Amino acid sequence: MTDTATLTVRRLSPVAGAEITGMDLTEPLPPSLRDAIMKAFLEHHLLVFRNQNLTADQQHALTLQFGPIEDHVARRADGSRSPVVHRVHNLDERDQPTATPREIGNYFWHTDKSYHQTPSLLTMLHATELPPVGGDTEFANTAMGYAALPESTRHEIADLRVVHSWESSRRNTGGRLATPEEVLERPPVTHPLVRTHPDTGVKALYLGLHTSHVVGMPESEGRALLDRLLTHTTRPEFVYVHQWRRGDLVIWDNRCLLHRAVRNYEMDTHRRILQRTVVRGTVPF
Ligand code: SIN
Repeated sequence: MTDTATLTVRRLSPVAGAEITGMDLTEPLPPSLRDAIMKAFLEHHLLVFRNQNLTADQQHALTLQFGPIEDHVARRADGSRSPVVHRVHNLDERDQPTATPREIGNYFWHTDKSYHQTPSLLTMLHATELPPVGGDTEFANTAMGYAALPESTRHEIADLRVVHSWESSRRNTGGRLATPEEVLERPPVTHPLVRTHPDTGVKALYLGLHTSHVVGMPESEGRALLDRLLTHTTRPEFVYVHQWRRGDLVIWDNRCLLHRAVRNYEMDTHRRILQRTVVRGTVPF
């Protein structure tokens, strides 16, 4: 337990995650406290603030204290764009719980918006409604995964670039396909397979649901490599499982963590709703 004048931090797992208690995030953060949070964020990659109760406007204001807020590209069933403060949920058009929600990408390992040239830095989820049991989110540390690779593999993948595309991520989920409009507004981009964290200098694998293929490699060979690396870096020893409590507000670093929601709850019976905002990052290198 680290106890400073302003912040009490308790490590939750050796992989990622620390709990911060005794804070009210509805109020603007003094710069020194904000800096202390960012220091803990870089050290632990994921922070859990317990017992919060933020309105959409308050979460919007809080997010802006960590950087520029990201527009949300997703569209609702009626075609309108989701607001920057939006909900991740398992509800159908009639607001009823369903095991087959329209968007299911969050149930696959991914790092947010890797299909953008400038992907997400930090995602903030605030649990407002939860199933009585389950509904966890898993986080995999891709810097630990990278560091644990054999030297020969690290050498082999050092300069590879990977295509990330919304269209292929839709295909990878087996859910709804991308609409022609979405394909036009989200063209494929390439990113390094090994990215260097801009704040810590630590290298991490950068891959997940949105990856399509490896540049300059036969498609099946590249796909097999990506699948192998994903299986490696999501092994249990690199994973922190977050079991949500109502009021949790979690922020995580998309530059070194993959995440996915877990279907370990009765999706067609219980509502699972998390209020979400995202801070825009920088171009991976
Ligand atoms: C997300 O992918 O941003 C949300 C994860 C979750 O639903 O737990």
